[in-house]
Amino acid sequence: MVEEKENIKIFISREIPEIGLGLLKNEGFKITIWKEAIPVTQQELIQLVKKHNALLSMGSDKIDKYFLNECRHLDIISQFAVGYDNIDIAEASRLKIPVGNTPGVLSDATADIAFGLMIATSRKMFFMHKLITRGEWNYFFPKANLGIELRNKTLGIFGLGRIGYEMASRSRGAFNMKVIYCNRNQNREAEKNLKAEKVSFDRLLSESDVLSIHCKLSAETKGIFDWNAFKKMKPTSLFINTARGQVHNENDLIRALNEKIIWGAGLDVTNPEPMHPGNPLLEMENVSVLPHIGSATVEARNEMARLAAENIIGFYRAKTVPNILNPEALT
Ligand code: GLV
Repeated sequence: MVEEKENIKIFISREIPEIGLGLLKNEGFKITIWKEAIPVTQQELIQLVKKHNALLSMGSDKIDKYFLNECRHLDIISQFAVGYDNIDIAEASRLKIPVGNTPGVLSDATADIAFGLMIATSRKMFFMHKLITRGEWNYFFPKANLGIELRNKTLGIFGLGRIGYEMASRSRGAFNMKVIYCNRNQNREAEKNLKAEKVSFDRLLSESDVLSIHCKLSAETKGIFDWNAFKKMKPTSLFINTARGQVHNENDLIRALNEKIIWGAGLDVTNPEPMHPGNPLLEMENVSVLPHIGSATVEARNEMARLAAENIIGFYRAKTVPNILNPEALT
């Protein structure tokens, strides 16, 4: 036991579902929640966190080297997300601050959004909806509003982890799509269950009818989908990104769509977030954009709240963090 639990103060940078708050309150922790509509700035967060022992963070919090050194007193950071590109994990390990996250519980929800964006984009649903709301849909034309069918097409997965697997499984089940993937490691489960084939990055680009992004944001993946990559894709292909907006170069994507280098794009993630309402992507016929709602289901958010709370509880009860990203911080 590090301290009496009633003396342990947890700062939560956005209100989380009750299931997580309840678990933390039951442990006797003192909880402070950032309740403003605008996200807490890094400077405000540092000042607040200085008065707390643990931080339950959001993906929008900038937990870089500077933050961590200002808040080196922190016992634990528990991130309410599976992604952790906002956190300098190496520095947290150096400072012996364990960092936990919430993997697994949002894979279905996020894959549903990728799958939904694939269908919506292939049939121009977002744009057609806009036509109705603008009063611009009037007549039936046999050659107008044509989409692309997905049956028997090739799905390319970039980053075949839990979410990529679920997207591939849905696409194979619903449309008998052939699955190819590009990943550092081989995914034997996907090869066995989904007949997925591991291919090079170039083959992924040139053979995919739908290319769906499910990788982590890292130095290696930042901006990897740029003009050079789009140029290698089929003119009939769809680009779907539900991972992180920085994985694609937005100007290059806009150009690739304008010049019909690729056919369409479905994005749940953008750079920056929120996307500016005047962004040209929002007016394109073959583009569907959502505001980063991959994990936004009651089920997923409840489970994320539970896991995020359990990471903190595990630490204070027994110095174990069930979903730890840097086990070396505890040694
Ligand atoms: C959402 O983007 C997450 O990383 O959980």
